Parts: sequence; C-alpha cells; structure tokens
Amino acid sequence: MVRELGKTFQQGSVDVPALVDVSFCAARGEFVAVMGASGSGKSTLLHLLAGLIEPTGGSVVVDQQDLAELDDRAITLFRRRHMGLVFQAYNLVPTLSVEDNVQLPLLMERGGRVQPEKCAALLEALGLSARRRHRPDQLSGGEQQRVAIARALINDPSVLLADEPTGNLDSCNRERFCARLRELAAAQRCTVLLVTHDPVVAMWSDRVLLLKDGRLAATLDRSEFSSAAALGARFHELVDSPASAGSGA
Ligand SMILES: Nc1ncnc2c1ncn2[C@@H]1O[C@H](COP(=O)(O)OP(=O)(O)O)[C@@H](O)[C@H]1O
Ligand SMILES: [Mg+2]
Repeated sequence: MVRELGKTFQQGSVDVPALVDVSFCAARGEFVAVMGASGSGKSTLLHLLAGLIEPTGGSVVVDQQDLAELDDRAITLFRRRHMGLVFQAYNLVPTLSVEDNVQLPLLMERGGRVQPEKCAALLEALGLSARRRHRPDQLSGGEQQRVAIARALINDPSVLLADEPTGNLDSCNRERFCARLRELAAAQRCTVLLVTHDPVVAMWSDRVLLLKDGRLAATLDRSEFSSAAALGARFHELVDSPASAGSGA
C-alpha cells in the first residue's frame, strides 16, 4: 500500500524531512494503529495516504490505484468513493442536521441519493440515534467526532483514515467507540489506520506502526501484549531510546 514513502517540507531555505522511507501493507479489514511522539510524522502519513499532499518520494497505492496517477479532480472523486477521513477538524456543516451531515458524501455524487436506513444504522451503532436531528453546535465534542466517523463510513470506504479520533472521548466512551469501530470495519472489510497517543486505543488494533523522527521505527504485533500498560511501556522504550536522541543536537 505504501512504498518508500517520503515527504520533505520546505520551510524557507530549510528542508524538514517529515516522513522518510516508510513502507507497509495493510489488508482489507485490518485495524492498524499509528503511534509516535508529537512531530514524528503521523499526520503527514495520513495526509499522504489521503492524497491531500503529494509525496516527495515513493508511492501510495489504495485499492490497486497508485494515487500519483490521478489529477486533483480524480483524486477528489477517488477519495470520496474509496476513503473515509476523520481528521482533527471534523468539518461538519453547521447548518445541517446530524443525519444530513452523515449523508452529505452520498449527495455529492452525481445522481446520489440519501440512504436513510443505512444512516440510521450507523447512527445507532455510534450511539447517536437520539441526536439525529440536532445541529453540530448542539452536540458535545465527542458527539461531533462520532458524527464525523459515521460520515466517513457511509460510503463503505475501503480505507478509513483517522487522526486521533478518540481525543475528545472519556475513557468509557473511548472503549465503546473502539469496539464499534472494529466491528464496523470488520463488517465492511475496511482497512482502518488510526493515529493515537493512547495505548488503550492501540490495544484494539491488530498491529501498531511506530513512527520516530519520520521513520517507521518498529511494527508491533498487538497480540504479543497482554495489557495496554505493557504496550505503553514498549512504546516508551522504543521512542525514548537514545538511538535518535542526538539527532536534533
Ligand atoms: N506544512 C508543513 N510545513 C512544514 N513543516 C511541516 C508541515 N507539516 C508538518 N511539518 C513538520 O513535519 C514534522 C511531522 O509533523 P506531523 O506529521 O504533523 O507530526 P505528528 O502528527 O506526528 O505530530 C514536524 O516536524 C512538523 O513540524
Ligand atoms: Mg498530528
């Protein structure tokens, strides 16, 4: 899916290598967590996977489509049809109800129709049924986040890209949310790539990609960890190891 992917930002005359030579494959239905310290390249990776920014090296292939072969318009269509995005800004339309926000991607297709039953099922699965006629400003941050997830899943995407989607949830809702996301992804055979700081969230994944200074520092098999604490300890061991501590000095 991703081969030798790299992205270097130019800041004035300075090159900022945000992502360096990252390669991995993720299967349909697989749940992959992406962890790393702040600034390690997690969001850059997701933006590249979504085709929102162009790589400076390597390639991204989603559903057998190399994103580099698509122009801007084609990539917008491809994204709408094959990917679900949940980024840190939820981008809900303030004047639309929850159910209209969720069905918006359907209406943006030529000849697209609403699918009220599917929408209702997703809202039910995400615990939002009672909120379906509310507007975004009448919802809590966590609820808005779940609306963004429902909207990302309405098109049966083959890939769901989520950047810290549990950041606004309390611990109980976080667990419930992860369980539901896993179920929905399995039912739709959707690959989930989920950025998180939280080992408890990562414990719901099949595999954890660990980024460090823009590089894929390790891939952890989640089943090898008996608890979130064990996973968190391993994470800190790898991230805080002195191997790269001197890289900024
Ligand atoms: N648009 C940009 N222009 C310049 N530098 C950027 C840009 N976006 C990200 N970076 C830099 O790339 C690195 C990785 O950022 P990011 O992917 O946002 O990290 P994370 O999501 O893991 O916190 C950081 O050093 C950040 O400052
Ligand atoms: Mg980020």
